[in-house]
Amino acid sequence: MTEVLLPSELSPSRNYFLLTSLLVPRPIAWVSTRSAAGVVNVAPFSFYGGISGNPPILGLGIGRRADGRPKDTARNAIETGEFVVHLVEEDQVEAMVGCSAELEPEVSEAEALGLVLEDSRLVQPPSLARARVRLECRLHQHQEVGNGPVDFLMGEVVAFVLAEGLLDEAGRVDEEQLQPVSRLGGAWYAPVRDRFRAQRPTNK
Ligand SMILES: Cc1cc2nc3c(=O)[nH]c(=O)nc-3n(C[C@H](O)[C@H](O)[C@H](O)COP(=O)(O)O)c2cc1C
Repeated sequence: MTEVLLPSELSPSRNYFLLTSLLVPRPIAWVSTRSAAGVVNVAPFSFYGGISGNPPILGLGIGRRADGRPKDTARNAIETGEFVVHLVEEDQVEAMVGCSAELEPEVSEAEALGLVLEDSRLVQPPSLARARVRLECRLHQHQEVGNGPVDFLMGEVVAFVLAEGLLDEAGRVDEEQLQPVSRLGGAWYAPVRDRFRAQRPTNK
């Protein structure tokens, strides 16, 4: 039997769980920011995707805290205009999930979890030393979306910082070298291990 569920008849949390269980797999942005007072914040977000190639722009949908305050990542990115997105690989899932604890703004997840940081190339927030792929971003646009509201941040990637060995001789990312993890619904995750190629039809 076909089930038809109408968002207008469902609670916000039911709609949220339907969307996050059905919009799968999602990439995970592991984001570092620095507050105006200098506290480094690190948190994961999977309402995340590419928006534009020219210039390279990505988008993050960041909900509010239960009391309506913006999350630290959104507040810091809006205040300072900068953030760094890291790719989460298989050996980093535990650390990434640990960063999703909602700590008060003056508490740094990086310090609480003992994450090693290093200077970024073009932006002030530091990068996660263990991350092999880092997208250093400047805030392109911030928009409030929906009733939450969600803070939708668009970031322009100003530097792709890649560990050695991730590019092939032609300068393309060697997909086989990456071990990304994706987010599914609830507490489910999936590695990306089985890869195959499919060529697009050529235009006549
Ligand atoms: C894998 C994963 C993905 C998440 N994706 C989102 C998301 O897209 N949007 C969001 O608002 N919270 C998301 N969260 C929850 C945030 O990480 C959590 O609220 C975090 O404490 C926010 O940190 P901050 O206040 O330091 O910015 C996610 C959590 C996990 C573990």
